[in-house]
Amino acid sequence: MGGHKKQRDGFTSKLGVVAAAAGSAIGLGNIYRFPCELGENGGAAFLLVYLGIVLLLGVPVMLSELVIGRRSQRNAVGAFKKLAPKSIWPFVGYMGVLCGFLIFAFYSTVAGWTLEYIVKAVTNSFQGKDLAAIEQDFSDFHNNGWRNVIWQGVFIFLTGFVVFRGVQNGIEKYSKVLMPMLLLILIILGVRSMLLPGAKEGLLFLFHPDFSKITGEVLISALGQVFFSLSVGMGALITYGSYIKKDDNLVTTSLSVTLSDTLVAVLAGIVIFPAAFSFGIQPSSGMGLVFNTLPMIFNQMTGGYFFCIIFFVLLAIAALTSTISLLEVAVAYLSEELHLKRQTATVLACIATMLLGTYSSLSLKQGSPFYIAGMSCFDLLDFVTSKVLLPLGGLFIVIFVGWKLGKTKFFDEITNEGTIKASSKKVLLFIIRFVAPLAIALIFVSGFIK
Ligand code: PHE
Repeated sequence: MGGHKKQRDGFTSKLGVVAAAAGSAIGLGNIYRFPCELGENGGAAFLLVYLGIVLLLGVPVMLSELVIGRRSQRNAVGAFKKLAPKSIWPFVGYMGVLCGFLIFAFYSTVAGWTLEYIVKAVTNSFQGKDLAAIEQDFSDFHNNGWRNVIWQGVFIFLTGFVVFRGVQNGIEKYSKVLMPMLLLILIILGVRSMLLPGAKEGLLFLFHPDFSKITGEVLISALGQVFFSLSVGMGALITYGSYIKKDDNLVTTSLSVTLSDTLVAVLAGIVIFPAAFSFGIQPSSGMGLVFNTLPMIFNQMTGGYFFCIIFFVLLAIAALTSTISLLEVAVAYLSEELHLKRQTATVLACIATMLLGTYSSLSLKQGSPFYIAGMSCFDLLDFVTSKVLLPLGGLFIVIFVGWKLGKTKFFDEITNEGTIKASSKKVLLFIIRFVAPLAIALIFVSGFIK
């Protein structure tokens, strides 16, 4: 077009930025994965480590990603190409695109379950059932592998549909209203859960730490969970950062996104554990923990039928705003670097995800052949992304910003070229240069020493 570059798509308002980034962060990671990890990794001790890592590493890594994205105005790979031309740094971006694809493949399995549970909620299929029956339903559903695959396909299609239409009229609009609603319903459920008989045990499990439970494995699990939950370490926030306007404040954006994400995770814990203990569901029961506990809570609630529907609809939407950001990483890369049409890129990425995702879903069936190295394909994808690729990605990202991009450009970016104050800039730089790389590396190593 006469040498004019088409204006890049972007977010239109400040609230839109926070909402979209929070939409990416808040999802199944908070409401499904967080309670599972906490339940399997020592309860309150895990929570304590988790909060420490959020503060010390979550904010700086998130900020670093936003800085890379906004400074370069490119996708996860192109960003490194632009900021560090003719270097090996773009491999961090490639790793991110790969990681996003792998996460989307197993994440969409669980996202599909939320759709199944919406149907179950609408058809009132939990009513009057005891725990054994609800657990049976959940395992029947798993053993019906193709039903999982179909819901997963529906979910991937929905994600593709939004991403297909682009950032402004897609992502932003959906995120803005629904996250606050999710927060509200979690608060209501939390109160209900805490009023159940025997709830106190659950609260103790969640808030009364036993420090002897902190091991290398707990540390790496918590680190992985923090990065997973905040959507950092794989370029989702580099990509979103590239859509942020030059006068938005990156430090406050990182802080508000981190804060809301953490709030939702802790609230999910307050909903799940008191109820789980009250009903006699093992905190370490993994996949069933959330999907069995919730219907039990709704069964005990006045208006439970409606709350149940609203909850699973909101959960599905929270998952959707996360999968959108996962898919967007690949689509932005394919369309900007490989010059595919946005629509073509979306369709290709969705088909690839569906193929791997099918393996992931079918691997959960009892006696499934889709086991690799003693793990189901689903668990393997989860393990490789959250405990290997995200920590490494986060590590490289802070090293890049701290040492390669350097002090001047970093300060320029977080102060919007000196037009706003960032009083914590020196502390942030110190953390990004020294504390974060060391801490991530140490935790990473400790996680693999038995
Ligand atoms: N943060 C999302 C969640 O908690 C998952 C996610 C991870 C999204 C990485 C994007 C990138 O559900």
